[in-house]
Amino acid sequence: MSPKGRILSGHRPTGRLHIGHLKGALENWVKLQTEYECFFEIALWHALTTDYEDVGKVRESVLEVATDWLAAGLDPELSTIFVQSDVLEHAELHLLLSMIVPVSWLERNPTLKEQIRDLNLEGKVNYGHLGYPVLQAADIIIYKANAVPVGEDQLAHVELTREIVRRFNGLYGEVFPEPQSLVTKFSKVPGLDGRKMSKSLGNAILLSDSEAEIEKKVGAAFTDPSKVYKGDPGHPDECLVCEYHRIFATPDLSTMEDDCSTGKLGCVDCKRAAARRISEYLHPLRQKRKEIEGKKGYVEEVLRGGALRAGKAARETMDDVRTAMKIWIGA
Ligand code: TRP
Repeated sequence: MSPKGRILSGHRPTGRLHIGHLKGALENWVKLQTEYECFFEIALWHALTTDYEDVGKVRESVLEVATDWLAAGLDPELSTIFVQSDVLEHAELHLLLSMIVPVSWLERNPTLKEQIRDLNLEGKVNYGHLGYPVLQAADIIIYKANAVPVGEDQLAHVELTREIVRRFNGLYGEVFPEPQSLVTKFSKVPGLDGRKMSKSLGNAILLSDSEAEIEKKVGAAFTDPSKVYKGDPGHPDECLVCEYHRIFATPDLSTMEDDCSTGKLGCVDCKRAAARRISEYLHPLRQKRKEIEGKKGYVEEVLRGGALRAGKAARETMDDVRTAMKIWIGA
């Protein structure tokens, strides 16, 4: 095992990823690959908790997420990259955990409460949806992960995982380590309209966008509303295009900020420079994507290899689980 232990993290197959995912998670995962033994899963079953009607899209989304991960630098030689539903043991562990998790723990899950409000699900929550965090706990502990790199929105899920581990270990013996959350300090990338960046809000810059698309999108981004004409003094601290310059480390940033404040630099030029900087930043990802897309079947092959490796680790844990629970009746 790697010196710092094991990591598991994942993402639902939501289709192509954006620069918020890159800054918020992927760059950190790429770094962690050399420090921990890493498992990264595409949580296909989790997507079905809300998107169970249009399942056809999910497969395509899986490949898009996997391609973005590889383009961003996840390395199948270093990490195990796989699709949750290719490792059926997750479902078995989820079932066993579901026997020992009180419904009241799940009803207080803040993400569920938000979804009930946002998706109008009052009185209509499905059984599997209620169990979302139990499945997530199974994902994490089936690899005996010591740490889970997540954004703040997932902290409650990891906390619940720890409670489930304590309950399991208390009932059947010490099988699982309690995983720690690794919360990354990262710059939140605002969307092009100043709201949270999200593909469904149509305000995202995708990792797969071309230079022309990025230029068009940034060109239409919101800027400081008090700077109407080029010569008006701007407020770089409050402007989201300036925030892009800061996040993507434009080299002559302080001169630009000064020129914006004094009215020397107009928003059109500033946006063009931001688009150029983001494009330049994404250049290596674009190259890598081209390479991946040139190798037909490569992404599927990576996922197959990942599933084999993950399956082996998951089966080892399930042997421990069945032994601890004394439910090993077979040969
Ligand atoms: N809930 C996570 C998301 O919304 C996806 C996920 C599933 C996950 N299983 C996980 C994240 C295990 C970390 C660890 O994207």
